[in-house]
Amino acid sequence: MLDQVKSFISEIENAVAKTEQEVEDFRLKFIGRNNVINDLFETFKTVPKEQKKELGPALNKLKGLAQSKLKELSTSLQSTGISTGDVDVTLPGAYNTEGSIHPISQTRSRIIEIFERQGFNVEEGPEIDNDWNNFTALNFPENHPAREMQDTYFVTKTPDVLLRTHTSNVQVRLMNKKKPPIRSIMPGRVYRNEAISARAHCFFHQVEGLVVGENVSFRDLKNTLYHFAKEMFGKETKIRLRPSYFPFTEPSAEIDISCFICGGKGCKVCKGTGWVEIGGSGMVDPNVLKNCNIDPTKYSGFAFGMGVERITMLKYQIDDLRLFSENDIRFLKQF
Ligand code: DAH
Repeated sequence: MLDQVKSFISEIENAVAKTEQEVEDFRLKFIGRNNVINDLFETFKTVPKEQKKELGPALNKLKGLAQSKLKELSTSLQSTGISTGDVDVTLPGAYNTEGSIHPISQTRSRIIEIFERQGFNVEEGPEIDNDWNNFTALNFPENHPAREMQDTYFVTKTPDVLLRTHTSNVQVRLMNKKKPPIRSIMPGRVYRNEAISARAHCFFHQVEGLVVGENVSFRDLKNTLYHFAKEMFGKETKIRLRPSYFPFTEPSAEIDISCFICGGKGCKVCKGTGWVEIGGSGMVDPNVLKNCNIDPTKYSGFAFGMGVERITMLKYQIDDLRLFSENDIRFLKQF
């Protein structure tokens, strides 16, 4: 009989329960009305006296052990959360779908990072501004056709409140607020009254740069853009500055980079030319400096502006501008 008691003790000590049913089975066997320990107590009455000395304490130990084990089994079951038999703990967890950073934000951050390492700081300005900051101070004469290059959304005509058509309004605000040396980039959203298509949208993003100081030259502009192009599109990238016209810069140039897809040989992305345009640039027109109370005989500057959507489309070969603002999760998930 002592062997029987010992074997129950070790059975209880090693007992585990993964479901409520297993806890219940344990209870029925060792604690319930017809439990096996009661049977042993019955038999105990009939054993010779000499054996009782050893058997008695062993039986009591068995009984106490069964009670404490039952408690232990049911609390450990609750703490693992497995209180019903229909939970399968081996199933993989349900994951929350993770968001991703919008491709436009990614490109914007990358552009900022590259210029910050060249000593530029970030300036921001309002999306709603007046005609002076968006056009007139930037040397767009009244009724000049250049204003029509950027179809404008007016909030009110008098007073002239509009949605900025480019981030160049921040140049004006910055030069009025801060005297040279200036070395800033101005990222932001701009608006134009354009029919929405794969190539045009009523809003998009630009990053503009402005450097003003003594003896700032076209060579500095070229170097800055060259460094940027190599960092952004790869070491082998070349740049090309094509003569152009902007009212606020003289001379002005379109910025082209050698096509980073075909390396300049000619492909679909560069339409066979080997070059792709990423923005505009030039030496700040002395009239603009004057309009912002900076002495053009003492200071000179260069500026540039680039489209964030344009660069993102080139980098990832996206062929429809509308994708950026549709918030289609299947598109956004890819970045
Ligand atoms: N503001 C021009 C545009 O929106 C881009 C631009 C060109 C900005 C030349 C500049 C610049 O600062 O120097 O098309």
